[in-house]
Amino acid sequence: MTGILGNSILEICYIAASITFILGLKMLSSPDKARKGNLYAAYGMGLAIVATILFKEEFSSEKTLNYVLIFAGLLVGTVVGTRMALKVKMTAMPQMVSFFNGMGGACAAVISLVEFDHVMHTGEFDLGLMIVIILGLIIGSVSFAGSIIAYGKLEGKIGDKAFPGSQIINILLLIAIVGLGGYLASMSVPSSTLLYAVLGISLLYGVLFVMPIGGADMPVVISLLNSFTGVAAAFGGFIYGNQAMLTGGILVGSAGTILTVLMCTAMNRSLANVIIGSFGGGGAAAAAGGEQGTVKEITATDAAILLAYASKVSVVPGYGLAVAQAQHTVHSLEKALDDKGVEFTYAIHPVAGRMPGHMNVLLAEADVPYPKLLEMEDANDQMANTDVVLVIGANDVVNPAAENDPSSPIYGMPIIQVLDAKNVIVMKRSMGKGYAGIENELFFHDKNRMLFGDAKDSLEKLIAEVKSL
Ligand code: TAP
Repeated sequence: MTGILGNSILEICYIAASITFILGLKMLSSPDKARKGNLYAAYGMGLAIVATILFKEEFSSEKTLNYVLIFAGLLVGTVVGTRMALKVKMTAMPQMVSFFNGMGGACAAVISLVEFDHVMHTGEFDLGLMIVIILGLIIGSVSFAGSIIAYGKLEGKIGDKAFPGSQIINILLLIAIVGLGGYLASMSVPSSTLLYAVLGISLLYGVLFVMPIGGADMPVVISLLNSFTGVAAAFGGFIYGNQAMLTGGILVGSAGTILTVLMCTAMNRSLANVIIGSFGGGGAAAAAGGEQGTVKEITATDAAILLAYASKVSVVPGYGLAVAQAQHTVHSLEKALDDKGVEFTYAIHPVAGRMPGHMNVLLAEADVPYPKLLEMEDANDQMANTDVVLVIGANDVVNPAAENDPSSPIYGMPIIQVLDAKNVIVMKRSMGKGYAGIENELFFHDKNRMLFGDAKDSLEKLIAEVKSL
């Protein structure tokens, strides 16, 4: 169907899709509605794609070729995307987000290349359009190259590689990109060679910008690159006059920016410090530590007695809880203690785990009631009245060095102040380090006892002991 009716239906579908994106994003802010929100936005995107194929007028001229390419693209994307999403482990989610984000950036850059080619053929050089095309190309390609490097680093395939003068090289590359891009846009007949030069330098910049950034800062960088992809997609929306693409791009761009700022605040660092510093890089951090004192262990039986006779218990979940897949087991412990009249809450650190909201998602999966999840500030306020804190598979987010050791690479990051509670029990498999690769003096503290073992196994033992009391 073409003509006025087709166009009107298309516009309505785009508006409907935009509404589902906004609703979906809103629902993502609460763990119990997040899954539904994700589906709403996916249906909206599906609607926008189907409506474009059916009603976009331009397709009527080169139908055969376009349909073959479109359906081949849809098929490849659906098969690869579904397989990756089904196979990915919860703990490898940041890598996947980074990879998919890179694909979004690549799409935005390819749109710019195709449109540039189109402009060169038609000879309709419009300054506004050229600026949008060039910006989409630059931001999309930086996002693509940066995201792929971030993916490689999180997968452990690429190490942190900082070399002297890298910041200066990056600044020079940025100046070259802006200068050449501006010149290209102002040319009366734009040069393809210059366009590919801008593309090449942008890709190089994306690689060099992410390369030296330390592991623990990767989530901030991924979120920043995510916002770049959103902005690049919004430029695509401008080029095609496509409201759904524009709304989707702006939503991703603004949500990514807000998340970046929130994560920087959670780690008490500025964005510039994240990009220039090397927080979390293994070398210097791993060297910290040395003689710290003695470690006291506790048995599951003694820990269960402590828990069962407490009035208030708080759990600090961390990455190890996700590795052990012990979310359902911790919820069972919560119920067992609930039956004994113990008040039970979870203290959630904003960067616990390996992705934003990791602990919230994990615990929501086990149907832990959301009001039991306390944000870090509230949890810290209540710590002095807490009888026992159970630190389950968390390490960096409870490391006191962040507060009292200015030489520590995590110094300045807010932590869950478990030492304010009356008793601390840390559950982990060994004295192994956390993501930042540094020792944790909490383990040697007088108030702390270690319950060694896989988090799930230890929790199962605790539940059995608590029930037998
Ligand atoms: P970590 O500091 O990484 O510590 C996790 C601990 O879990 C390890 O010390 C490990 O010790 C233990 N563990 C692993 N498997 C376990 C199992 N099966 N059972 C019991 N314990 C297990 O975790 P965290 O405290 O959650 O801190 C998160 C860190 O990751 C921060 O440095 C943060 O900056 C960084 N980061 C965060 C994000 C986001 S956005 N959340 C993304 C990337 C990086 P053992 O080996 O001794 O068991």
